[in-house]
Amino acid sequence: AKNVGILAMEIYFPPTCVQQEALEAYDGASKGKYTIGLGQDCMAFCTEVEDVISMSLSAVTSLLEKYKIDPKQIGRLEVGSETVIDKSKSIKTFLMQIFEKCGNTDIEGVDSTNACYGGTAALFNCVNWVESSSWDGRYGLVVSTDSAVYAEGPARPTGGAAAIAMLIGPDAPIAFESKLRGSHMSHAYDFYKPNLASEYPVVDGKLSQTCYLMALDSCYKYFCHKYEKLEGKQFSLSDADYFVFHSPYNKLVQKSFARLLFNDFLRNASSVDDIAKEKLGPFSTLTGDESYQSRDLEKASQQVSKPLYDAKVQPTTLIPKQVGNMYTASLYAAFASLIHNKHSELAGKRVILFSYGSGLTATMFSLRLHKGQHPFSLSNIATVMNVAGKLKSRHEFPPEKFVETMKLMEHRYGAKDFVTSKDCSLLSPGTYYLTEVDSMYRRFYAKK
Ligand code: ACO
Repeated sequence: AKNVGILAMEIYFPPTCVQQEALEAYDGASKGKYTIGLGQDCMAFCTEVEDVISMSLSAVTSLLEKYKIDPKQIGRLEVGSETVIDKSKSIKTFLMQIFEKCGNTDIEGVDSTNACYGGTAALFNCVNWVESSSWDGRYGLVVSTDSAVYAEGPARPTGGAAAIAMLIGPDAPIAFESKLRGSHMSHAYDFYKPNLASEYPVVDGKLSQTCYLMALDSCYKYFCHKYEKLEGKQFSLSDADYFVFHSPYNKLVQKSFARLLFNDFLRNASSVDDIAKEKLGPFSTLTGDESYQSRDLEKASQQVSKPLYDAKVQPTTLIPKQVGNMYTASLYAAFASLIHNKHSELAGKRVILFSYGSGLTATMFSLRLHKGQHPFSLSNIATVMNVAGKLKSRHEFPPEKFVETMKLMEHRYGAKDFVTSKDCSLLSPGTYYLTEVDSMYRRFYAKK
């Protein structure tokens, strides 16, 4: 199989959201901390009728319908998620309801979990399957689904929720350059979920930022090394058209791209002009550790990289800024933003993606885009995802109601024997919602 990659995409996020400006005021944070400081506009969250299973049921059903894919044509289904609903039963098995109905139970794959990286692991599994000798000619399907919620405190505004479904196969408009990959994996306690009775993570915010940037440096180094071995010339930021980052909040994305430019500067790469060299010169002697702590370097590199950021990163930031951190779905929601904004001018472009999951696991990889053929074309993917329409039809909740919802969800997490309000008035037609969890913890869903 050639040009294996993403044929089709669909995104779902809850219609319920809270404005960061309102949350900032409600939390008593200084004005601008969440909007300018973190770079976030709005945050989506699940109410008691939605969860990672209902969101992924909605995304998968919609993808199959809108691209007219017969469920029998799916041969592998992989889910990436870090939202634990059951310690044994995979989210994938819930999604099998869609396929069983059509007589297809011959579907490989289960769930992958490591913080925000699970979606990437699932995606690689599906791509590898299509490229392998065990491929049976059918499509792979990848689902990234998460509800990101934090305890009250500084991390709370970095929540979010979404599910993304991606159809995998050959001759894709979004093709993997499979040889171009660099990974960095190590042991860290930056963000983890040791308390199985709570949905909230334990998080060391500052450490998680440093781990993220260290992993980025390391992945970029390996990525460049592989490119140079393959192509016989140095890689620089000029060799890719867009850079897409896992996006816990937008400020970290700005810092990440600046960090890549600083890497190019240290490597004496062609993307760095004389003005940039002069501005970054004073930092060339910092040790690695010092460079992660230096506020002056952060400021200088962000300033120097601003024009390139506007061209190569800004078009990828819409959904993460509007929806928040979607954990495993964040990177792919950033990529979906690029397709939404630029679908008509992406043919032939190279896009570099950086996936990060705390704990920690990270990979930088490369995609080559093609116009594609209907229904698997970039323009049709943009039409199906209808990002602008979905963002526009959302319902803003005041912070009080958001906090009230979080309290109810804390109570509901891991609980049994309850029925929900079944209030689906805010959901669009075709959306799945949770109706009941019975005395055996069995979950029931309905479709609006
Ligand atoms: N106006 C403008 N900017 C402001 C204001 C203001 N009034 N107040 C603060 N800021 C800026 C700060 O200067 C800082 O920006 P800088 O880093 O460029 O200096 C930014 O706002 C954030 O302020 P901090 O004081 O650093 O924020 P705090 O430490 O309270 O929380 C954090 C931020 C650590 C990111 C927290 O939200 C968190 O723990 N989030 C979850 C962890 C996370 O997402 N980590 C990322 C990788 S791991 C993952 O994906 C889960």
